[in-house]
Amino acid sequence: MKLPELRIGNLVAKVPIIQGGMAIRLSTARLAAAVANEGGIGLIAASGLPFDELRYEIQLARKLSPNGIIGINAMVAATQFAGLVKTAIEEGIDLVVAGAGFSRDMFAMGKESGTPIVPIVSSAKLARISEGLGAAAIIVEGSEAGGHLGTDRSARDIVPEVVAAVKNIPVIGAGGVLDGKDIVDMLKLGASGVQMGSRFAASDECNASDELKKMYVRATNPEDIVLIQ
Ligand SMILES: Cc1cc2nc3c(=O)[nH]c(=O)nc-3n(C[C@H](O)[C@H](O)[C@H](O)COP(=O)(O)O)c2cc1C
Repeated sequence: MKLPELRIGNLVAKVPIIQGGMAIRLSTARLAAAVANEGGIGLIAASGLPFDELRYEIQLARKLSPNGIIGINAMVAATQFAGLVKTAIEEGIDLVVAGAGFSRDMFAMGKESGTPIVPIVSSAKLARISEGLGAAAIIVEGSEAGGHLGTDRSARDIVPEVVAAVKNIPVIGAGGVLDGKDIVDMLKLGASGVQMGSRFAASDECNASDELKKMYVRATNPEDIVLIQ
């Protein structure tokens, strides 16, 4: 199966993969640019970075991937959320993905500058509200996803509900997507693309320590992986 393009607002990614933001400093310019250079969407994890460092990372990503799509991920619940979004918009970021909480204000910030705002949600209700507020796309995170989550339901169950709930924006599935088959399965549920985090955590371009990367690579048995609330 040839994977379709992913359109978010005016952005067109040749490969329908968003590399999920991984704070703090796991996904920075190098990883985001590598993914963007392959036709996906690369996200710099902004939470925890001083504003100057975020500016530096965005400029570096642009240098490493002049034609790629580069966004930031910011956690709504973390400190300086609004300041990080404002800083990224000032730097001309292509899109803002917001996880770990929900903010109504961020949509107004995106509207002013024409920057696509993409919330991460885990319910059809919040997806519908987001579309009403101006979301350019919706990322649906299920219980399989790495990071901080607000649900115990699988993305495979939530994605079709969100696809039915929104009218005109793409839905992107996240959680436990590791290979081509997982991507195709997510597309068959109605998603327009996927967001993947853990798959990229052990990559050369990720800033994680070698120890953490080795731990990911060594986790080959199902019992090595524990889903926690
Ligand atoms: C180490 C790690 C750090 C993460 N940090 C963030 C973060 O800062 N903000 C956020 O919204 N999501 C974060 N996530 C979630 C990812 O962006 C992505 O949605 C998730 O990893 C997808 O599930 P997967 O790991 O099964 O591919 C993180 C995930 C991992 C594995």
